[in-house]
Amino acid sequence: MAALLDDPAWADQDMAALFSPGELSARRGGAGARGWLLGRLAAKAAAGRRWRLSPAEVEIKSGPAGRPWSFRASAPAGFISLSHTRGAAAAVAADRPVGVDLEPWSRPLSDRAWTWSFAPGERRLAESGGSFPARLALWCAKEAAAKSWGRALLDNLPRVRVAEADWPAGRLTVAWRGRGRKMSEVRLSRWDAYLVALAQSRPE
Ligand SMILES: CC(C)(COP(=O)(O)OP(=O)(O)OC[C@H]1O[C@@H](n2cnc3c(N)ncnc32)[C@H](O)[C@@H]1OP(=O)(O)O)[C@@H](O)C(=O)NCCC(=O)NCCS
Repeated sequence: MAALLDDPAWADQDMAALFSPGELSARRGGAGARGWLLGRLAAKAAAGRRWRLSPAEVEIKSGPAGRPWSFRASAPAGFISLSHTRGAAAAVAADRPVGVDLEPWSRPLSDRAWTWSFAPGERRLAESGGSFPARLALWCAKEAAAKSWGRALLDNLPRVRVAEADWPAGRLTVAWRGRGRKMSEVRLSRWDAYLVALAQSRPE
């Protein structure tokens, strides 16, 4: 995994100079501009480390459903996932489908969002979150697992369920309840002031 804390000294134009014209053709403007740049920098770093490539050799592009992919000389290099939030970004690269989600550790999840987004059985899993902020951890685990299956969580909320939680080990199991059963194992950790959920899809 590669994670970056944003630094106000980094100008957007200097960061953009690290990307190819093909990558920049999808560049986001407005409020999402900084996160887009940071996320892709983290992705280049993760892919570079995983496959021993220089950042210039790796291209990060998005598929039609928004899933990022990494390329080397126009050929797929492997699986990649990225996440950006206020002040930071993280990415992971692997030879198996992966997903990552990053959120500020102290980000609250309102009662309304909690009851709307989680089934009663999932909410019971959060009664003891150990050292993790349980509600946020369950949310991040779902986000990361959904990404590992190439899905956006909000479009699939009822189909993504946290099935098991081993809080002392920081491990959750997330199941896909749509067509074709899938499972992902999610590892939770703290990095700086952020909660990180890293999902690996189990081989089918
Ligand atoms: C699209 C979604 C993945 C966005 O998640 P998010 O938490 O807002 O943002 P993140 O930075 O963690 O993830 C965004 C990245 O997910 C990736 N992504 C988007 N669609 C994806 C898909 N179908 N499959 C895999 N990855 C995907 C992209 O790389 C995207 O970044 P990019 O657009 O810069 O390339 C989706 O699950 C969503 O809308 N979630 C709701 C967010 C929310 O309500 N959060 C409250 C938290 S308490």
